[in-house]
Amino acid sequence: MDRFIITGGRPLQGSVTVSGAKNSALKILAATLLLTKPIRLRNVPDLMDIRTMKRVLQTLGAKIEYNSDEKIMDVDPSGLNSTVAPYELVKTMRASFQVMGPLLARFGRAEISLPGGCAIGPRPVDFHLKAFREMGAVITTEHGYIQAVASPLHGASIYLDFPSVGATENVMMAASLTEGETIIENAAREPEVEDLANFLNGCGANIQGAGTERIAIQGVSSLEPTEHRILADRIETGTLLLAACITRSELEVVNPPMGALDTFIEKLRECGNQFEFSQNSIRVMPSRNPTGIQFTTRPHPGFPTDLQAPMMAYLTTTEGISVISEGIYENRFLHMSELLRMGGKIQLEGARALVTGGTPLSGAPVMASDLRGGAALVLAGLAADGRTEVSRVYHIDRGYERLEEKLCALGAQIERIS
Ligand code: UD1
Repeated sequence: MDRFIITGGRPLQGSVTVSGAKNSALKILAATLLLTKPIRLRNVPDLMDIRTMKRVLQTLGAKIEYNSDEKIMDVDPSGLNSTVAPYELVKTMRASFQVMGPLLARFGRAEISLPGGCAIGPRPVDFHLKAFREMGAVITTEHGYIQAVASPLHGASIYLDFPSVGATENVMMAASLTEGETIIENAAREPEVEDLANFLNGCGANIQGAGTERIAIQGVSSLEPTEHRILADRIETGTLLLAACITRSELEVVNPPMGALDTFIEKLRECGNQFEFSQNSIRVMPSRNPTGIQFTTRPHPGFPTDLQAPMMAYLTTTEGISVISEGIYENRFLHMSELLRMGGKIQLEGARALVTGGTPLSGAPVMASDLRGGAALVLAGLAADGRTEVSRVYHIDRGYERLEEKLCALGAQIERIS
């Protein structure tokens, strides 16, 4: 298992380019199952989770070529010959569950391993299943697999009890190729939902309202391939902006998804940091004496839960007390105990973390327990005095494309030990 050895306290400088969004690419790859002809996707990041989704699609019979230099992925779904997503793949990545909607719409059946729990807490799929039942699927669970059969699906009016990103996308994909009209009320408004809708509409789907809380989908009988460029990753953008803030270094972040991080950037401003926006980049001018803030993670356009851990690392370095409330995953504080080992002063009160900032961080051996918690430890390592050793880097590799190389190119000192 790889580890990062970080020598902290080095200033960063220069500019860094954001990769394609993991959470967009994964769903758009799942959506290629709705097609019968080859398709080309651009700006597909080279990540562990993308490799897992590639394996899921290959298991179903798709042929896939990836050019990691050009970030081009060619998917040929013409020879699909299975509707089973096996445990070995779904257990390593929950997003594999997103193939259920496309398989149900295209073949009238899907057999997907039930995703288990994960480090950030229980993550059920009941909203997905309730929606597919409303669209006419019969769903049973046996031997750890969810079996869904529809003959065929039909349009339906669906209300999501919570604006779940995964459920919104799964239903949107299925409904694109399902006769009749499907309405999703209380839909997730994340930019990746919009990117998926843009992709599907480019292929001839009829989806209106993606990016709002009401999405209307008129089913079509077939979809035709179109080239699509994956949206830039807003969580990587946020992590890089925090790398600048935590090291008090001015940086330019190139190719960010503009407008997708407004609440997050507003919070960084509240700490005292300044930003300059140009057509294709964000320049961050960090405060030398930033102050603490309060925030609660919420569905988009609220503060993204995926930036909560990286933000916590930063807030250990700002003056005063910060209050962090988790509104999406109440147990998502695993990174806290590792930050304590680096000198952070953090107390947990239910679903709130109180961070007393301003005490210097010191390097220590720490362990990544999940993707974004791992990124938080890397950020803390950049600011800490001395050497930080981050183990279980595979969590970070799931969702960041060469994070350590990007940071080293800016002046950080991070060594990967295999
Ligand atoms: C996606 C993102 C993840 C992000 C999350 C919230 C991907 C691959 N992952 O995950 O990075 O942290 O959105 O922004 O895109 N829930 C249920 N039942 C369901 C579905 C969800 O109770 O059937 C709950 C979840 O446990 C969670 C909340 O709803 O508390 C939001 O989950 P959801 O938006 O579905 O997250 P994902 O799509 O899994």
